[in-house]
Amino acid sequence: MDPRAATKTGLFLSPRSAAAVAATVLVLGTLLPAAAWTRDDVPPDVAARANPVTLEDDEVRYYKRQFKGKCARCHGIDGTGKGDSAGDQTVPPANFTDSAYMSKRSDGQLYYQILEGGGEACAMPAFGPGTDHSWTEDKIWHMVAYVRRFAATK
Ligand code: HEC
Repeated sequence: MDPRAATKTGLFLSPRSAAAVAATVLVLGTLLPAAAWTRDDVPPDVAARANPVTLEDDEVRYYKRQFKGKCARCHGIDGTGKGDSAGDQTVPPANFTDSAYMSKRSDGQLYYQILEGGGEACAMPAFGPGTDHSWTEDKIWHMVAYVRRFAATK
């Protein structure tokens, strides 16, 4: 065996494979947990609830304004998760236009996150009754329907 090959296969990585390892660690460290983070404490009966309301055409403008004022700085006005404050979040906001991802999230899960906020894991505020925003359950369900529109294919 060529002695130079032997030192290469020893303790030391070639600069190229070291860079590859570093890149892999970076990608895994930044992308994987980030894309996967969601609240894991949604009560099963809430997670199983289907949205009891539909967003009527004449309500869309109102919820768009609400989303713009209270959600877009993190989630982005287009729902892609690239709002101005998105980079400051410990877990990045998800891409609401990603229909593959959104199809795995139940109405009840989306509802619960808006109701209760992000908890300790992320800085999303809670909007439910008794919070500074004090949105009614009805308003939150309408917002869930608005959020669903980002991934709707029509
Ligand atoms: C301070 C930043 C911030 C604000 C403001 C904010 N969010 Fe979030 N939100 C997050 C982060 C971070 C997450 C966790 C990652 C994710 O799931 O998107 C999240 C999660 C969610 C989820 C759960 C998505 C999922 O993956 O299951 C919904 C629904 C949601 N937000 C809706 C809203 C709505 C509606 C508003 C405004 C009324 C809002 N958010 C305001 C940061 C924010």
